[in-house]
Amino acid sequence: MSRSAHPAGPRHADVLTEGHYSAPPADLNVLDPKVWARTVTRDERGVATVGGLGVDALAEEFGTPAYFLDETDFRARCRAWAEAFGKDADVFYAGKAFLSRAIVRWLKEEGLNLDVCSGGELTTALSAGMPAERIAFHGNNKSEEEIRTAVEAGVGRIVLDSFQEIVRVAHIAQSLGKRQRVQIRVTVGVEAHTHEFIATAHEDQKFGIALAGGQAAEAVRRALKLDGLELIGIHSHIGSQIFDMAGFEVSARRVVQLLAEVRDEHGVELPEIDLGGGLGIAYTSEDDPREPHEIAKALSEIVTRECESAGLRTPRISVEPGRAIVGPTAFTLYRVGTVKPLEGLRTYVSVDGGMSDNIRTALYDAEYSVSLVSRTSDAEPMLSRVVGKHCESGDIVVRDAFLPADLGPGDLIAVPATGAYCRSMASNYNHALRPPVVAVRDGEARVIVRRETEEDLLRLDVG
Ligand code: LLP
Repeated sequence: MSRSAHPAGPRHADVLTEGHYSAPPADLNVLDPKVWARTVTRDERGVATVGGLGVDALAEEFGTPAYFLDETDFRARCRAWAEAFGKDADVFYAGKAFLSRAIVRWLKEEGLNLDVCSGGELTTALSAGMPAERIAFHGNNKSEEEIRTAVEAGVGRIVLDSFQEIVRVAHIAQSLGKRQRVQIRVTVGVEAHTHEFIATAHEDQKFGIALAGGQAAEAVRRALKLDGLELIGIHSHIGSQIFDMAGFEVSARRVVQLLAEVRDEHGVELPEIDLGGGLGIAYTSEDDPREPHEIAKALSEIVTRECESAGLRTPRISVEPGRAIVGPTAFTLYRVGTVKPLEGLRTYVSVDGGMSDNIRTALYDAEYSVSLVSRTSDAEPMLSRVVGKHCESGDIVVRDAFLPADLGPGDLIAVPATGAYCRSMASNYNHALRPPVVAVRDGEARVIVRRETEEDLLRLDVG
């Protein structure tokens, strides 16, 4: 995952071995459009703006830390995905990346479907009026209550993840006098991350039913026998933050092989395949993600080719991007509290949030970029580590970044590309109050998830 250490900045053994940083960018004031949401720019004062609103005014009105989500960008990305895949394919936004009722309404308006993976996400989707038939329900251990709610609501598909679940969903559907549309999630033996994929035994994980050893074929056999189920296809999800399409190539080939086996054994051509999500985004200027139309073209060519060689009709394809839609559309705005230069090492910049609003750096060693956004600066680049205010030394937001050397308390800095898996994985560690999500569009800002209050914390603590 990490980029190579670069001998720029302080020359100290620890820095060189532990650092992930590259050379400082030519101009620290430039907000690279690759990593920032579409409408982000700087105004004549040098203050960063989103949707035409300055971050200084936004911080004043909504406080920090806060996530600011560029609604224009979010909607444009939804449209780009929908158009790229066209009417013969389906795009399901993966709600786990970030879900709120406003998001559900935007998805509905922009013609996307929604993948949910818990009863909570399902409730959010239904309560915001997402038509049930446009919802796919995932999870490796859905409760009976969750399954019943989903079947009763009439979700478009439930993705079956185990032999027990095949029976469980069938029984529940039958007891409700329904026939539930389902897919079977298979494990194709491929794991993909960023630029690498490994096509060997990666069945050693909790999701899905392995193709290897004929287990997936057995799952199909069982599902086809049950009256409560209508088996519509096969599902596969191979990883996260993927740039290299080779993993999808192998996965599609293996799924199509299963479709051919099913046809040979049962005389049935399953009409759909879902290739999951996992498409990568740019967290730093060095990442080069593909555009939705390139991804759509690549996936459709792979599936069409594999089906032709197996003599199958090309099934309807669906995909489930989460990060690739919402990730780039938001940034987290922090206020700098303290700046601590460590001689010969780096400067620790402490902000008013931390691992409670972005756990990804601590959990996955994820890389982010960061910029001073309340002003521009001509000061020298300073090798920095942006850390939070939590009582833990692993509380790192941006491990290695260059910020201007005149940075000081009160400055606003922002971390771009935090739309996915930041608010949705936020915690109350140290009884931190989870930040709000503020949607910005055409000069207007609107809270879509409010900031937690101390009353919220105390309300859960029954004493
Ligand atoms: N479909 C399925 C079945 C999935 O399991 C996932 C992600 C997605 C779609 C959406 O993947 P995306 O396009 O957003 O990469 N917390 C981690 C990511 C976990 C992803 C789990 N499944 C992170 O922060 O990187």
